[in-house]
Amino acid sequence: MKKIIITGGAGFIGSHVVRRFVNTYPDYQIINLDKLTYAGNLMNLKDIEQQANYRFVKGDIVDAAFIDELFASEQPDAIIHLAAESHVDRSISNPTEFVMTNVLGTVNLLNAARKYWAGQYADKRFYHVSTDEVYGALAMDSGMFTETTSYDPHSPYSASKASSDHFVRAYHDTYGIDAVISNCSNNYGSHHFPEKLIPLAIHNIKNNKSIPVYGKGENIRDWLWVEDHARAIDVIFHQAKAGSTYNIGGHNEWKNIDLIYLLCQIMDRKLGRAAGESAKLITYVTDRAGHDLRYAIDASKLKNELGWEPSLQFEEGLEKTVDWYLSNEEWLNEVTSGHYQAYYQEQYAKR
Ligand code: NAD
Ligand code: TYD
Repeated sequence: MKKIIITGGAGFIGSHVVRRFVNTYPDYQIINLDKLTYAGNLMNLKDIEQQANYRFVKGDIVDAAFIDELFASEQPDAIIHLAAESHVDRSISNPTEFVMTNVLGTVNLLNAARKYWAGQYADKRFYHVSTDEVYGALAMDSGMFTETTSYDPHSPYSASKASSDHFVRAYHDTYGIDAVISNCSNNYGSHHFPEKLIPLAIHNIKNNKSIPVYGKGENIRDWLWVEDHARAIDVIFHQAKAGSTYNIGGHNEWKNIDLIYLLCQIMDRKLGRAAGESAKLITYVTDRAGHDLRYAIDASKLKNELGWEPSLQFEEGLEKTVDWYLSNEEWLNEVTSGHYQAYYQEQYAKR
């Protein structure tokens, strides 16, 4: 029986990874370690929380003593590490929190792995989930990020993720820890916290609030359905060689403004509004500082070596995502109240 600690399992992507592993591998024990920040919500895992192979542990990866005790008592076989501060705008207003969780938290987990797995690295695995944002920004016509693209992060968020990636590689190269890293493009799908572009736009369109488009809306992101990301993590976790890195992406580049117009069309149809009604909510606002122009992932290594490909067309995935948000009002109300609500109001009062 394999025991896996999944960090950040109450968040957006983490909850999809936890669900996939709990449902696909009944003989594994899955421990979800999460601090439950504003972005973590156990409502995300309601459907699987009673399963015999699942457990939740509340804790902070920045707390080295807690992590040490957890490794000592649980003796996990593997870590799938997703816990992070993940929102670029928050990293601009509070970079230190990103250093603490994303860098120090990762190093704490690596130190515990080093201490408790010494001499048995071949049977253990440290899987670090990272982002394509570590590679920096592409010009409009300058190809795609590959696994050998140099790191060039621009935001405090991407700098903290780049730093954590370097530590993971350093612990593999220096101590021999069996580590793998994947760098994924922007995800979308259910349970996505409504501070990120797609769920924020859905939420605002539904409530007839303005849709804030940064700058001219010309920035490009490469969108991947979150369940395809969870499947890629499953494949890489089970098949990748120690020390390897894989890019994960959707081959699905969209200019922000084109994406917003598509979303407005879908929402008009679903809400029974006249065509063009939701698009009236589009509001151009001051650009994000240091805003990366374009991200695009070359995921051919993952396809060629491990056979993974995205499964869903974007238009179909967006429809599914909109349907989920429209029929999960309770979830939206819960996550948009309290802590988040205060932040949300403060940020938007400034615009
Ligand atoms: P998220 O913000 O939705 O969730 C993060 C989770 O980590 C939350 O449940 C939160 O409570 C938990 N957490 C935060 N700080 C913690 C701490 N100190 N100790 C324990 N738990 C803590 O993030 P997400 O979008 O699901 O991203 C998950 C991971 O995937 C991150 O590492 C992120 O960098 C990476 N990633 C995200 C995307 C994306 O598009 N969202 C793309 C590529 C990679
Ligand atoms: P986001 O979802 O924050 O992801 P990331 O910055 O990690 O790519 O933003 C996606 C794109 O949408 C990015 O170019 C910034 C832009 N954006 C807006 O135009 N308005 C918004 O309100 C938000 C949150 C993002």
